[in-house]
Amino acid sequence: MRRVNCIISGLGNIGSRFVGVLNQKQAQIRDQYGLDVRLVAAVDVDGGAIDPNGLDLAAVAALERKASVGTLPGVGQPGLGILEVLQRVDADVFFEATRVNLTDGEPGMSAMRAAIKRGMHLITTNKGPLALDYAGFRALAQQHNVTIRHDGTVFGGLPAITIAERDLASATITKLEAQANLANSYILAKMSEGWSYADAVQGAKDVGAADQDETLDVDGWDAVIKIVIFANAVLGMNAKIDDVRRESMRDVSPERIANAKNRGNVLKYIAEAVRLDDGRYDLATGLRELPRDHALAALGAQHMGVSYTSDLFGTITASIHETSPLPSASTMLRDLLILYQC
Ligand SMILES: NC(=O)c1ccc[n+]([C@@H]2O[C@H](COP(=O)([O-])OP(=O)(O)OC[C@H]3O[C@@H](n4cnc5c(N)ncnc54)[C@H](OP(=O)(O)O)[C@@H]3O)[C@@H](O)[C@H]2O)c1
Repeated sequence: MRRVNCIISGLGNIGSRFVGVLNQKQAQIRDQYGLDVRLVAAVDVDGGAIDPNGLDLAAVAALERKASVGTLPGVGQPGLGILEVLQRVDADVFFEATRVNLTDGEPGMSAMRAAIKRGMHLITTNKGPLALDYAGFRALAQQHNVTIRHDGTVFGGLPAITIAERDLASATITKLEAQANLANSYILAKMSEGWSYADAVQGAKDVGAADQDETLDVDGWDAVIKIVIFANAVLGMNAKIDDVRRESMRDVSPERIANAKNRGNVLKYIAEAVRLDDGRYDLATGLRELPRDHALAALGAQHMGVSYTSDLFGTITASIHETSPLPSASTMLRDLLILYQC
């Protein structure tokens, strides 16, 4: 039995669901893979909890943001922050699931760097730090001989990076197209049913596909940072946010959707990377008319999908019907098992 000690920062939608998944699967992981995964520290915005023997996962998951982990009897410390925890607690893996911040990447940026410097592997769903400084994280991880895994930062619960690095390992990706953003998919799907843009945006918020501030989604930033991370992770690029051409959804009109339909096409919001003759990739996000027989054209309002075209395998497409944060949260478990070669 191999013991794996873990720390998590951020117990929101993703973090607290992930702790629940770990609780649900802990015995199975022990039996099936010989891994004894323990959460030795957990931190939220108001405090932290430490237990070298492993926190009670059910108790942490049950908090559901109603109370801080810092209030847990016997182990909780109100006000305890992640940087202090990373100094005090030894662990093998650091899970980071705090809110995305595209200004300076904090609080994830400092915590992720500190964990790597302490020799911990990093598993994250937080796009901000990686979109801002992927090359820096790659170099830091190499220097400290640790691995970063982050499938949850790109296309939700899809194993998008895993497919590219494992299943397409010998191939050259010539084109990647992704329905990468649930809010935009939902808005376009509802507008094609006759809803107004405003109603469709509100609908996306109501089903949890969009944040209360929809800017990151509809202005394309979420898709931009996903394609930047993907390009860095699997296309061998040192891409930055400014390298991506970006189109906002705000000007989409019912006429544009109807015109696409009349031409036998479907209007989608797509993130794409297209290989150029010199081996570099053109990166863009925006509205695209896809022919009806395109694999992404049939995806519904709450689907994400990614199509890889490569020199060896033609086009491979994967999609997911994602109606809750559970699949994205579960990418952290998948990444853990891949990290330990299960
Ligand atoms: N939700 C999804 O479906 C999804 C899918 C893929 C990737 N992601 C990414 O995964 C990350 C987490 O998403 P989420 O939906 O779980 O967001 P969330 O619900 O906002 O959770 C983030 C949590 O981090 C907490 N936090 C803020 N500052 C902190 C600090 N200094 N130390 C520790 N915790 C802190 C927040 O507390 P307060 O709320 O009190 O500020 C919040 O509970 C984000 O980067 C997101 O982009 C989300």
